[in-house]
Amino acid sequence: MTAASERRVSTLVDRYLPAVRERMRASVPIVEGDVFGILRYHLGWQDSEGRPASEDSGKGLRAVLVLASCEMAGGQWREALPAAAALELIHNFSLLHDDIQDQDATRRGRPTAWTVYGLHPALAAGNAMRVVADRTLLALSEVGAPPETAAAAAAALTSRYLEMIEGQYLDLSFEESDEVTTGEYLDMVSRKTGALIDCAMHIGSLVATGDLRTAAAFGRCGRELGLAFQIRDDLLGVWGDPAATGKPVGADIRRKKKSMPIVHLFQQADPRQREWLRSAYAADEVAGGDVESVLEMLADLGAREFVQSTAAEHAAAAVRAIEGLPLGAEAKADVHAMADYFIERDK
Ligand code: IPE
Ligand code: IPE
Ligand code: MG
Ligand code: MG
Repeated sequence: MTAASERRVSTLVDRYLPAVRERMRASVPIVEGDVFGILRYHLGWQDSEGRPASEDSGKGLRAVLVLASCEMAGGQWREALPAAAALELIHNFSLLHDDIQDQDATRRGRPTAWTVYGLHPALAAGNAMRVVADRTLLALSEVGAPPETAAAAAAALTSRYLEMIEGQYLDLSFEESDEVTTGEYLDMVSRKTGALIDCAMHIGSLVATGDLRTAAAFGRCGRELGLAFQIRDDLLGVWGDPAATGKPVGADIRRKKKSMPIVHLFQQADPRQREWLRSAYAADEVAGGDVESVLEMLADLGAREFVQSTAAEHAAAAVRAIEGLPLGAEAKADVHAMADYFIERDK
């Protein structure tokens, strides 16, 4: 990513994220020994003993996109704060459950909530996070949004996170399929990750303008950004540096995830390789030595370059989606920088 894009993205993050974090903290009840302790642990605000901590709370990109879109569309970003916090809380609800579903033991460089508190408490914490998010969004009308805008924002959030759950279901069902096509993969990712990033730009611009057409155009940009984001995430899941991503590499392959590199591999494999892949993927998990062989096959195929160029195509589509809107040069440069960051990030 260019130094200019990097500077722009950190300017946006520094501008918006402290207020988002404050709003999120105000949303999570403080009750000793209750389910909310698990939320605070997951969010990095306390350690596993309940002591205050300031660990990695995530990049906050969905919230940043809500507020940036609000400002780009001519609004006052503080009026969109409840929506930004709600989006980030919904995202964290999905991660609490995702780590259980993916059986992942590490996120953001720390033990996942379910490994610390147990499966059932972590499930309950995910549900609580979701409701805390819904309640946070209700505050939109308290900070000046007209009732119809607040209602449209709530409708957008619920429909997008329902879509996210559908995507998550598809992602899990693909573990047992060796026939996932690129089209099916893109549809799954569009729901799993695209829907919430679409939602971020949709709601931010909706709060600014009250106009559903503008919101839909921003949402289309977010949808493409979301695809680019997840494709890069799939790349980092295979070739990333765990010290940067905070997640182990190889876990997606072991868990038989049909991430983009693997979908590509299954499609490009010759009959002999396909035979081998089918037997390696017939086990409950791909065995350690087989993961190594899969990595070699991916390297021979140039899969990393293919996946990266696909991410770049979606980032370019995101930029095109915003071109038709009457935005200033600064706003367009910000979208450009975000798109750049989404496909070049290492974390
Ligand atoms: C992780 O999202 C889940 C995906 C959709 C790929 P992020 O990479 O945005 O997670 P945090 O919140 O920054 O940790
Ligand atoms: C995260 O997806 C969950 C949702 C987007 C709903 P992944 O399973 O692909 O992401 P990581 O790699 O665990 O963060
Ligand atoms: Mg996961
Ligand atoms: Mg997952």
